[in-house]
Amino acid sequence: MLGKNILGLENFSAEEIRLVLKTAREMKKIIGGGVKKLPNLRGRAIVNLFLEPSTRTRTSFELAGKYLGADVVSINASTSSIVKGESLRDTLMTIEAMGVDAVVIRHKAEGAAEYAAQVVKPVIINAGDGAHAHPSQALLDLFTIEQFKGRLAGLKVAIVGDILHSRVARSDIFGLTKMGAEIHLAGPKTLLPRFFEFDGVTVHENIDAAIENADVINILRIQLERQQSGLFPSAREYARVFGINEARLRLAKDDVLILHPGPQNKGLEISNAVVYGANSAIHEQVQNGVAVRMALLDLTLNGGQL
Ligand code: NCD
Repeated sequence: MLGKNILGLENFSAEEIRLVLKTAREMKKIIGGGVKKLPNLRGRAIVNLFLEPSTRTRTSFELAGKYLGADVVSINASTSSIVKGESLRDTLMTIEAMGVDAVVIRHKAEGAAEYAAQVVKPVIINAGDGAHAHPSQALLDLFTIEQFKGRLAGLKVAIVGDILHSRVARSDIFGLTKMGAEIHLAGPKTLLPRFFEFDGVTVHENIDAAIENADVINILRIQLERQQSGLFPSAREYARVFGINEARLRLAKDDVLILHPGPQNKGLEISNAVVYGANSAIHEQVQNGVAVRMALLDLTLNGGQL
C-alpha cells in the first residue's frame, strides 16, 4: 500500500482491508503500552487540512502521526488563508511546496480528496468529503466489530438513520460487504437513498425489521448541517419512530454491538441509556480510531514494516 491514496473503500481489496486491520491490531498494543512512540515515520511530515469541523478524526490522525514519530501540523479553515479566498488547489500546492509527505483532508464537497490526489503528489487521505466517503471511520468500525465479534463475515449489520447524507454509511457498506457481512439499512423514506442496488444490502422503511436479530447496529447522526428542513416532521417524532432506545434494542440479539461515529444527538437518533449501556462500543471506537489511523499512515508512507 506504499504511496496509495486513501480516497474510499470502493478502491480497497479485501486483502488490503485485512492488512489494515492486522496492522491496526499491532498499533493498538503500542497505544496500550507505556511509551507511545515508534520511529516508523521519523523525519516525515503530515498536514491535517480540516475544512469542516472535527474532534475525533482530526485529533486521532494528529496523535496517530505523532505516535509514529512524524511531524504533524493541523490547519483549520477559520485560521487559514482560505478565509481570504485562497482556492483549494493553491492551498494544496502551498502545503506541497513545504515538503509534506501526506495530507489528511476533510472537506464539505464530495470529490475533494480525489481532486487533491490529482493536483498534488503527497499521499492523500480522505477524512470525510461531503456525503461521499469516510474510509478511516469505516475501517475503525470494521476493526471494532471484529474485536468484539471475532469476525465480519455472516454478521447482520443494521445501519440506521440519515443514510442519505452519511459518508460513514457509504464507506461502511463498501467495507462490510467486501468482508462478507450482510447490511440492512433503515431510516425515514426521505433520508434513504432513492436507488440502492448493491449485493448484500437490504433497504427497509421499518426500522424494527432492520434491527431484528442484528449482531451490530450502527446508528448515524442526523446530519442537520447537510439537509434542508422538512425531511422529518419533528425531533420528537423522529426519536419515537426511528430513535434507538432500550425498548427497541430488545429486538436485536442480546449481545448486539452498538456503534455510533459521533458526535451523537442524544435523545434524537440514540437514547442516553443506549450510548452508555452495556452493549455500547462507542468509546472503544474512538480508541480504535487512533490505531487504525496509525496503520493507514504506516502502510501508505512506510510500506508497513513494524
Ligand atoms: C462523522 C463524520 O464527520 O462524518 N464523524 C466522525 O468522523 N467521527 C459522522 C458525523 O459527523 O455524523
